[in-house]
Amino acid sequence: MGILEIKDVGKRFGGLQALSDVNLSVKENSCHAIIGPNGAGKSTLLNCLVGKLIPDSGSVMFDGQSVLGRSPYEINQMGISRVFQTPEIFGDLTVMENMLIPIFAKRDGAFRMHAIESVLAEKQVIEQAEAMLEEMNMADKRHMHAAAMSRGDKRRLEIGMCLSQEPRLLLLDEPTAGMARADTNNTIDLLKEIKEERDITIAIIEHDMHVVFSLADRITVLAQGTPLVEDDPQNIRGNPKVREAYLGESA
Ligand SMILES: Nc1ncnc2c1ncn2[C@@H]1O[C@H](COP(=O)(O)OP(=O)(O)OP(=O)(O)O)[C@@H](O)[C@H]1O
Ligand SMILES: [Mg+2]
Repeated sequence: MGILEIKDVGKRFGGLQALSDVNLSVKENSCHAIIGPNGAGKSTLLNCLVGKLIPDSGSVMFDGQSVLGRSPYEINQMGISRVFQTPEIFGDLTVMENMLIPIFAKRDGAFRMHAIESVLAEKQVIEQAEAMLEEMNMADKRHMHAAAMSRGDKRRLEIGMCLSQEPRLLLLDEPTAGMARADTNNTIDLLKEIKEERDITIAIIEHDMHVVFSLADRITVLAQGTPLVEDDPQNIRGNPKVREAYLGESA
């Protein structure tokens, strides 16, 4: 029994069956990669795990509890944090201000932008944010505007923001999309460190096979909304079904 159990999940958008018969089990403290061509339903599946979409059928259990019907905030409180496909940091706030948001949100519920000043007065929250910036090697960037950072640093900040909530399951939707190779490699190293040092399960959606094979303990290939293959990384590389799904992409 995995920490995340997805059973018979289906989701339709009008005439499009975006997901059908999705069954997936993610083992605790593993890194499970979900790969597949554009439009395969990867982000849709992730959205069903975090309360952004409700599947038409099936069940999604996290640590024995259903996530369906819960709000994104409630799911976050259950221990699931997510890095979105498009970065979700506030460019006009500083790195430190961004880092305060999830810590405050986890503690007090909703975060209100006008509350930043009062948050800044709270020692404990500041200490937590500072510790996480240290851990992310970003302490020297704390006063920088987030918008001015490199793509790799923005991702690093976002991952740190998720980790500051001490999630048990970290979901990442293409964390290295659009990154230069050096930033991608830094992100791989960061995620490897997180895997080793924390009691955490990671589910990652990724197109870059270098990232996938560097991190994944288990891989599910999604094609046209349905899992095609689930296997260990060494068996995925040469699998003809996987190659076919990617139509010659570097699987
Ligand atoms: N809100 C929506 N309304 C209608 N159709 C949608 C919606 N969200 C996704 N889709 C469609 O569902 C299918 C799956 O989309 P999804 O974003 O899950 O794919 P993906 O595997 O994440 O692709 P990519 O690799 O490009 O990110 C696509 O055909 C997409 O156009
Ligand atoms: Mg996607």
